[in-house]
Amino acid sequence: MTIDEAAAAGGEGASRTFAAPIPAALLDAPLEFILVDHVRQRSLCAAFRRFTRQGYVDRAEADAVVTYLRHDVDLHYRDEEEDLFPSLLRRVPPEDDLEATLARLVANHRQSRTMIEAIIAVLAKRAGPGPIRLGPAARKLLLAYAASEHHHLAVENGIVLAIARVRLTRGDLTAISATMKGRHGVGA
Ligand SMILES: [Fe+2]
Ligand SMILES: [Fe+2]
Repeated sequence: MTIDEAAAAGGEGASRTFAAPIPAALLDAPLEFILVDHVRQRSLCAAFRRFTRQGYVDRAEADAVVTYLRHDVDLHYRDEEEDLFPSLLRRVPPEDDLEATLARLVANHRQSRTMIEAIIAVLAKRAGPGPIRLGPAARKLLLAYAASEHHHLAVENGIVLAIARVRLTRGDLTAISATMKGRHGVGA
């Protein structure tokens, strides 16, 4: 499959909802907050496929992506690695074998962080006032990130959040909500 075919397979998805902040009130329902963050990440993947198809990124949109990647993604990974995943491991019986799944997701986060640094390096380049042109390596990088993130989100929505809804207690959710509020700079 060529880069153009792979990009076209991702659908139109010209939405920019990744740049829209999540209402702070949703931190009272931390699993919903994480789910909405996943919707934003899906929209980022759709934007990356669109950039790859068109071969360039407008300055303003590149800036929005860089801001999102620098701030929001890190907060999301920390919500999962420091709150959601450890809380789940305390509640889920060993026979559910969730530990291996969560370890793979954390390893994915590490790989994503490396890709994100490379994507920021491409999009934060200031070579002039016009749009940022994407060469073959940059297009491949954006598509690789989108494909890997797409799989990651499917596992988190389909397995991790599904189990969390059943296993986490009201007390667990209250505790997660409180630490997430601190992390996101919202008064508890
Ligand atoms: Fe996630
Ligand atoms: Fe994740």
